[in-house]
Amino acid sequence: MQVFHTIADLRYYLLLQRLQGKSVGFVPTMGALHVGHLSLIEASRLANDLTVCSIFVNPIQFNNPDDLARYPRTLEADCVMLDIARCDVVFAPSAEEMYAEKPVLKFDFGDLERVMEGKFRPGHFNGVGIVVAKLFNIVQPERTYFGQKDLQQVAVIRRMMIDLGFQMEHNVCATLREADGLAMSSRNRNLTPDERQIASHIYKGLCNAKEALVSGKTTAEVQEGMTAHFAEQPAFRLEYFEIVHAHTLQTVEAIQPIGETALCIAAYLGKVRLIDNVIF
Ligand code: PAJ
Repeated sequence: MQVFHTIADLRYYLLLQRLQGKSVGFVPTMGALHVGHLSLIEASRLANDLTVCSIFVNPIQFNNPDDLARYPRTLEADCVMLDIARCDVVFAPSAEEMYAEKPVLKFDFGDLERVMEGKFRPGHFNGVGIVVAKLFNIVQPERTYFGQKDLQQVAVIRRMMIDLGFQMEHNVCATLREADGLAMSSRNRNLTPDERQIASHIYKGLCNAKEALVSGKTTAEVQEGMTAHFAEQPAFRLEYFEIVHAHTLQTVEAIQPIGETALCIAAYLGKVRLIDNVIF
């Protein structure tokens, strides 16, 4: 496995690979890798000659300085995991390397970012858009791999690819979960053992809500059910629970055709902010 820290070195290496006719799959990450990330690497390995994983804790997508400071950084362990997962190339630039000049361009994703993550984390999707567009231009992959866990990110990147004419294939991979249902996340490492014990309350809430909707409850009743579910566990602070169309991410008043209803949630457990969703 090759590890690069500069854009120029990575570009040169990938150019040589491409001249040999190799196809490139790309998995952007912020490190602190877990099995969920590795499932994206595996998906890329199956479809491409070469898999590139970037590890970069992107400062401009954090609207909360504490969250940025607390974000786990485990490059050495990440590289061991990627090597075992038979990833071919790691790109781990410094912030100075990625942003030698502070970007001034601003993305506005319209209605897509007025809701949920965009609403509660102002500027977040601008930061995601800038870094992902820059990484796409550096790596120039044939295929990219993102997780459904960050559903709004998937929608925003899809929009950016259409609007800017990025031609690569955009692959979305299922959310990997711990045995108790908690969605795997780098932020789970910041939970205390007691918090970890109850963290799957979020996923249980989503499963209950899905069941209630399917059995004919109204969206208002399901919202009330979720409020009651979180009242049972005062360690949580529910930030939002939204019943939305899976592609537009706008609120819906009734269940949608198969595969188009998404239940999305964000909640604080202590200091850790967790998000999750189910689509059905
Ligand atoms: P990060 O949170 O590290 O996630 C990297 C990729 O892994 C994302 O596409 C995310 O959706 C996916 N992922 C996270 N948890 C997952 C799980 N449990 N199962 C499957 N996939 C999972 O998302 C980012 O980084 C950043 O915003 C980034 C796109 C790298 C831009 O900075």
